Amino acid sequence: MAILVTGATGNIGRKVVDQLLARGAGAVRALTTNPAKAALPAGVEVAVGYLRKPKTLPAAFEGVEAMYLAPTPDTVEEVLRLARQAGVQRVVDLSGEHESWWGSVAKAVEASGLAWTHLSPGDFMENTLDWAPQIVATGAVREPYPEGRSTPIAMADIARVAAVALTTLGHEGRSYSLTGPEVLTRVDLVAHIAAATGRPVEFVQVTRDEAVEALRPGMGDGAEWYVDTILQGSVDWHAEVQPTVEQVTGSPATGYGDWVREHAAAFLP
Ligand SMILES: NC(=O)c1ccc[n+]([C@@H]2O[C@H](COP(=O)([O-])OP(=O)(O)OC[C@H]3O[C@@H](n4cnc5c(N)ncnc54)[C@H](OP(=O)(O)O)[C@@H]3O)[C@@H](O)[C@H]2O)c1
Repeated sequence: MAILVTGATGNIGRKVVDQLLARGAGAVRALTTNPAKAALPAGVEVAVGYLRKPKTLPAAFEGVEAMYLAPTPDTVEEVLRLARQAGVQRVVDLSGEHESWWGSVAKAVEASGLAWTHLSPGDFMENTLDWAPQIVATGAVREPYPEGRSTPIAMADIARVAAVALTTLGHEGRSYSLTGPEVLTRVDLVAHIAAATGRPVEFVQVTRDEAVEALRPGMGDGAEWYVDTILQGSVDWHAEVQPTVEQVTGSPATGYGDWVREHAAAFLP
C-alpha cells in the first residue's frame, strides 16, 4: 500500500515527501499537475492530478493506505468522498482549529469516515521570508506592532510530524497543535536576522498603511489581509509553546535562530 502526498511540490508537501523518504517509507506517491516540472526525487511514484480538480484523483488514490492532505477547503468534501471510495484509510491533514480559517478542512475530515490526524500549525518561520525584499533594499523591517508575538514553526518540522503520523499508527483522532520552541516578538525575529546575516537590521515602527506598502512587493494583495488579521491579531494573542513536535518526532522543534542561519542568504543582497 502506498502513502500519497498531495500538494507534493508545495512548500510543506515537498518536505513531507523528503521526510517520508528519510524514514524509509515504502511506496511514496506524489501528486502533481506537472511531473516534468515537479523534479521529485528518485524512488517516488508520480501521480498526475490536483485537489481542486477532484475528477483527476481516482487513479492517484488507487492502492493508497494513508495520505497527506494539503488544504483546499473548496473541494475537500469531494476529495475525501473519492478517497474513501478508493479505499484510503487514514488522512493526515494540514488544517486548523474548528473556528479558524482552515477549520472547514478539519471538520470535513472528521465527517469523512476516514481515520484522521490534524496538523494545526501557527505562524510559519518561512513567513519572515516576506521581509527579505525590504531588508535587502533598506536594512529594516517596517511593521506597526513591535510587540506582536508568535511561536513560529519551521515547515520542515510540520513535515516531520506529518511523516511520523503517516508511517506509524497511534496518531488517529489526534489534533496536533504545532509550534516552534519559543515565543518571539517581531523585534526578536528581526534581531535574529541581524545576528544571522551579520548586518544591522532595524525594526521600524510604522503605520498600518505604511506596513502594507512595505510588504506589497513580496506579498501582493495578501499584504492588507496579513497586516490587519495576522499582525494585529498577534498583539493580544496568548502565544504558547506546545511540546508536540518533540513528543511526536522524538527530536526538538527547530529554533528560529537555527532556521534563520540556514536561510541567511535569503536576507542578503
Ligand atoms: N495555520 C496555518 O498557518 C495554516 C494551516 C493550514 C494551511 N495553511 C496554508 O496552507 C498552504 C500550504 O501551502 P503549500 O505550499 O504547502 O501547498 P499548497 O498551496 O497546499 O499546494 C501547492 C501545490 O498545489 C499544486 N497546484 C496545482 N494547481 C495549482 C494551482 N492552480 N494553483 C496553486 N497550486 C496548484 C502545485 O503543485 P503542482 O504544480 O506540482 O501540481 C503546488 O505546488 C499555505 O498557503 C498556508 O498558508 C496554513
